Amino acid sequence: MGYSSTTGAMGAFRSLFLFFWITAWYSSLVYADNQVPLRGAEENQPKRIAVIGAGSGGASTAHFLRKYADYFKVPVNITVYERASYVGGRSTTVNVFDDPSIPVELGASIFVEVNRNLVKAAKEFGLLTETAFSARPRDSDDSLGVWDGQRFVYQQQDTSFWWNIAKLLWKYGLAPVRTQRLMKQTVNKFLGLYESPLFPFSSLSDAANAASLLDATVSTGAEFLERNGVSADFSREIIQASTRVNYGQNLPLIHGLETMVCMAAEGAISIQGGNWRIFDAMLKASGAEVRLNTSVASINQKEDGTLSVSSTTGHSAAEQSEFDEVVIAGPLQEAGLTISPELDHVPDRIPYVELHVTLFASPHRISPQYFNSGASSVPETILTTLPQGLDLGSRRDGVGPTGFWSISTLQKVKAPSQSEEHYVYKIFSPQRLSAQFVADILGLDREAESTKAATNPTIGDLPREDVSWFYEKTWHSYPYLYPRVTFEEISLAPHIWYTSGIESFISTMETSSLMGKNVAALIARSWLDKPDQDTEEEWNHWDKAEL
Ligand SMILES: Cc1cc2nc3c(=O)[nH]c(=O)nc-3n(C[C@H](O)[C@H](O)[C@H](O)COP(=O)(O)OP(=O)(O)OC[C@H]3O[C@@H](n4cnc5c(N)ncnc54)[C@H](O)[C@@H]3O)c2cc1C
Ligand SMILES: *[C@@H]1O[C@H](CO)[C@@H](O)[C@H](O)[C@H]1NC(C)=O
Ligand SMILES: *[C@@H]1O[C@H](CO)[C@@H](O)[C@H](O)[C@H]1NC(C)=O
Repeated sequence: MGYSSTTGAMGAFRSLFLFFWITAWYSSLVYADNQVPLRGAEENQPKRIAVIGAGSGGASTAHFLRKYADYFKVPVNITVYERASYVGGRSTTVNVFDDPSIPVELGASIFVEVNRNLVKAAKEFGLLTETAFSARPRDSDDSLGVWDGQRFVYQQQDTSFWWNIAKLLWKYGLAPVRTQRLMKQTVNKFLGLYESPLFPFSSLSDAANAASLLDATVSTGAEFLERNGVSADFSREIIQASTRVNYGQNLPLIHGLETMVCMAAEGAISIQGGNWRIFDAMLKASGAEVRLNTSVASINQKEDGTLSVSSTTGHSAAEQSEFDEVVIAGPLQEAGLTISPELDHVPDRIPYVELHVTLFASPHRISPQYFNSGASSVPETILTTLPQGLDLGSRRDGVGPTGFWSISTLQKVKAPSQSEEHYVYKIFSPQRLSAQFVADILGLDREAESTKAATNPTIGDLPREDVSWFYEKTWHSYPYLYPRVTFEEISLAPHIWYTSGIESFISTMETSSLMGKNVAALIARSWLDKPDQDTEEEWNHWDKAEL
């Protein structure tokens, strides 16, 4: 079932891509033995690079810049600005009962074995991975169920790799096989972006086209699946459950490529202690100066091309620093940046999903009654879909009768100063959860005094004996992935780079990392003289530089 055995096919793809790519390929590199990257006396000064954002994109930019700089023997001084007090961005953990020995993911929780950058970095930095869902308590009959607001339309016992293919085949006939095949083809095309002749790419639109991926991004998931012969019931009951838990979007909205990403769940893993550890390790290895609690307010390009970055830490006065390159490694619309003069390419404002994540601990199990179930337990992971016959089209408020996207039982933990074990749950919803909803799914019939007293009671108003710990967070988690065939520019102006345009293509930790690496390679390439080079030769550089 692995999709790593595709190198043969990649060869054929490669030569095809070369044809498309050749026209877009103007700049290039020197060979290792005649590398003469330095152009003048002033070039002996370290290249000064500012990276704004210490999430996957920014950390990967710094990590690969260091590798390329070392390989090409170019001195660099990298500064990473992060307005939050922690490294990781949307990849971060919180501690159950505030106990640092029980971290749980608040944002991005899993990646998969085909995510090359993350897998490689985890190995390089000696970080331990664990199979996704390995901590789940396993005391329900079913591990996974898909709820439509009335009934469970699908249930399965094991989560060996999330979807049980045998069970799916039995229930849906050929649709799962077709989906699997389509997913593998799509993943293989995507992997072309990591290699010669596509990598590094100065235009994501061109690279996506050359990789033949626009066929998937041009249509909605619903259209893409139908066109490829995947039945409507399988799409709605299984694939849409996946696009909803992963992106809070139904198939008539989200594009075909991101739909396929949702089905590529094989080999789902996470880093013990938190995925943010990858990005922390990357930043440490890069030797970058990481400035936490420091917000960049403006970028000002001077006549000579250098960039003046103004930042503030806490309440102290604004500080200016000069740089040769600036990388914006987070969604521009949320960065609060003033940039002058105006950018050559101003990224569009992209609508982002507002996702409410509620983590909580409780001695209670999820109530089978709430789910109209006569069974003694409900599935540990409850995904949702729309009931048959209800078509909400491309509406953003598409959650439907279930009211939530997913409920996962993460693990059982010992409650502090109690002998009892409590369950830790994670709920994704488009709105803040009401106290009533939480009480209902836990099967609590009593209404507490504290809850009655509050005007709009929420989880914090429930008694401590029922909810022993909770954490609520509202994210702008990922874009609404409407079908499209062009993506934001990577070079926004001379020496100003942007990683987050890739989120409208695929929004994951891995793709942000890929774009960080790509920007690092584009910057490194700009340091070098530009003899005409064969792309295969150039690829050897990027490949070797990573060692
Ligand atoms: C709840 C949730 C679940 C998810 N699940 C998954 C999953 O299972 N797997 C997966 O791969 N992906 C998942 N994702 C998506 C994933 O988290 C993102 O795609 C990825 O982390 C984005 O990384 P990034 O570096 O591009 O952006 P971010 O992580 O957002 O990093 C940008 C950083 O820039 C900083 N910043 C912004 N402006 C400024 C400024 N002016 N000055 C200084 N700093 C600034 C921000 O504070 C932030 O830390 C999930 C996301 C959420 C929210
Ligand atoms: C790197 O750049 C920062 C910010 O401009 C500066 O404070 C620091 O002294 C520089 N470090 C080196 C080693 O040049
Ligand atoms: C950042 O700010 C937080 C709280 O505002 C503080 O606890 C933390 O120590 C600060 N971190 C750094 C590195 O300054």
